Amino acid sequence: MPELRSLSPNRLDRDDPLVGFRSRFVVDDPGLCYLDGNSLGRLPAETVARIQTVVNEEWGRGLVRSWPAAWVELPERIGGKIARLIGADAGEVIVADSTTVNLFKLAVAGLRAQPGRTRIITDALNFPSDLYALQAAARLCGPDYEVEILDSVDGISVPAEALAAAIDERTALVELSHVAFKSGHLYDMAAISAAAHAQGALVLWDLCHSVGVLPIDLRAAGADLAIGCTYKYLNGGPGSPAFLFVRETLQDRIENPINGWFGDAQPFEFALDHRPAKGIRSLLTGTPPVLSLAAIEPGVDLVLEAGIERIREKSMRQTRYLIERFDVELVPLGFELRSPREAEWRGSHVSLGHAEGLRIARALIDRMGVIPDFRAPDNIRLGVAPLYTSYEELERAVQALRVVVRDGLYADYSATLAGVT
Ligand SMILES: Cc1ncc(COP(=O)(O)O)c(C=O)c1O
Repeated sequence: MPELRSLSPNRLDRDDPLVGFRSRFVVDDPGLCYLDGNSLGRLPAETVARIQTVVNEEWGRGLVRSWPAAWVELPERIGGKIARLIGADAGEVIVADSTTVNLFKLAVAGLRAQPGRTRIITDALNFPSDLYALQAAARLCGPDYEVEILDSVDGISVPAEALAAAIDERTALVELSHVAFKSGHLYDMAAISAAAHAQGALVLWDLCHSVGVLPIDLRAAGADLAIGCTYKYLNGGPGSPAFLFVRETLQDRIENPINGWFGDAQPFEFALDHRPAKGIRSLLTGTPPVLSLAAIEPGVDLVLEAGIERIREKSMRQTRYLIERFDVELVPLGFELRSPREAEWRGSHVSLGHAEGLRIARALIDRMGVIPDFRAPDNIRLGVAPLYTSYEELERAVQALRVVVRDGLYADYSATLAGVT
């Protein structure tokens, strides 16, 4: 494969089949190099109009009449669109609550569906909120329940064989992030799901860092349960509600542990005893946050329009470009690659380790107009969101990293972690 770094970023942008999608987003400051779409995606232009319609027409004019007319079906309707991105059927996905709450609900339900099995297997690369929710689920289920967190030797991945070896007849649930939030390692969903099933365990996937940026086929992988957020590569906005997936053939064994009226078969009968709705709707709890929910749809539509295969192709090329440039420009300055070198095992961000990582990230934001993010203890994450990230931005980020370290600009910044990065 010819090296991408031998081509100019302008030429790569000109030849990019997705280049037109950038103008579908609000880009107020073209001088800003935004490489944090893996944390909070940009605002789709269409979302501004959609929110105005929901506020002015549906809420302002329609008032409560908009519940039956426009809002009640939104969790399933948007869930149905997300289903197309993750290899699921419409009746298997619904939008509700936050990722963490959905994880808790499905973890408790998964444990209760596996009587006699008391262990959850996960790994140290998982997002901490997942670990906290799994531990809370285990505590709720009883003193015998435990969460085993497998360590990662290199901080990048846990080998599939080590995971398979940890799963046994005591395992109720295996829960992993499809793409690890720090290293960007992409797990082999089909192989790990098969290893879990071989021991009679269920598998629950966190799709936060893969949905909307790479093809996911839950059906082909035989996945049982999944959750994911909508504010990263789906561009749903800060705190937009998350989605959950329950395999159709498992739905009669999965009981929502946080019952509420929106998951009831007939909420407006106000019965004193809960009768769960049929299918995926039973996983709803309370009133959906309509404004944030409606804001998700334009971003999902953009991903569907661009096509997930084309998005993945560009994402792999762009992360490869970053790594090729890192090899030349950044290795001599003390940076280390903390993501997989092989594109097929990589999600859509590249993590670079540096002893001064936090101060470098601060200088990038403050002095260079480059926004990455920082993950303790020393990782700078460069997120590639193929719908709007340009090669020119990637090159600017590499040059900014080089200047900040070469000229010691980071020395002006504190190394104490505080607030959101
Ligand atoms: C992989 C992963 N899982 C879970 C979460 C937590 O999501 P939420 O805050 O929506 O509960 C995040 C947040 O960034 C995440 O990256």
